[in-house]
Amino acid sequence: MSDDDRSREIDWDAAYVLGETPWDKGAPAPPLIEFLEGRPLAGRVLVPGCGTGHDARAIAETGAEVVGVDISGRAIDGARALGEGEGLRFEVGDFLDLEGRHRGAFDWVFEHTCISGLHPSMRGAYADSVVAALKPGGRYLAIFFLTPWDEGEVPEPPPYGIAEAEIDAMFDGRLQTEQEWWPGRHFPGREGRELMRVMGRSPS
Ligand SMILES: C[S@@+](CC[C@H](N)C(=O)[O-])C[C@H]1O[C@@H](n2cnc3c(N)ncnc32)[C@H](O)[C@@H]1O
Repeated sequence: MSDDDRSREIDWDAAYVLGETPWDKGAPAPPLIEFLEGRPLAGRVLVPGCGTGHDARAIAETGAEVVGVDISGRAIDGARALGEGEGLRFEVGDFLDLEGRHRGAFDWVFEHTCISGLHPSMRGAYADSVVAALKPGGRYLAIFFLTPWDEGEVPEPPPYGIAEAEIDAMFDGRLQTEQEWWPGRHFPGREGRELMRVMGRSPS
């Protein structure tokens, strides 16, 4: 990543210290819960940009072995305070600079509001890390928050929105879309603004 990209990064620790974390609803994402009720995740799951870990915790409760990674030490302190344990671990780390031990190590990568915090110039590196983290045949489960700003507000990023064509371009030729749908459950105000996908890495 260039110095210019680095300069666009947000001071995530400061946000957590100041409690300026409007994305943290104190609960797992309703579209994730809806999904897990029909299809619990199995195997090893990586949650990049996990924040204080509500989604990671919900996935671990279905029996998967979950690793939540966040660049903010303060977020990870908060996640650990809410509970680590059997099948659930939190780590400080830069997902865009994936550690060797995480390469090819996961059956699933789960996305929820990590992309919306990354400048669009970082999406290539993000997609590279998603693909690199997955085992052959592994899957990417994503809640894409397409328009992460308040209704009537002129978009002034961050957070950054994303369009379906941009998602396609990020993973073109590397992950295949297996399912795409509009979830039925949401945090208030996100109705019709979240798109879900399961995308698979080829088994070979
Ligand atoms: C908008 S917040 C969402 C947090 C969490 N997914 C949630 O919904 O509560 C984005 C998160 O991504 C983390 N983050 C930003 N850049 C990152 C990176 N390069 N690697 C790992 N985490 C990152 C931030 O610290 C922050 O916790």
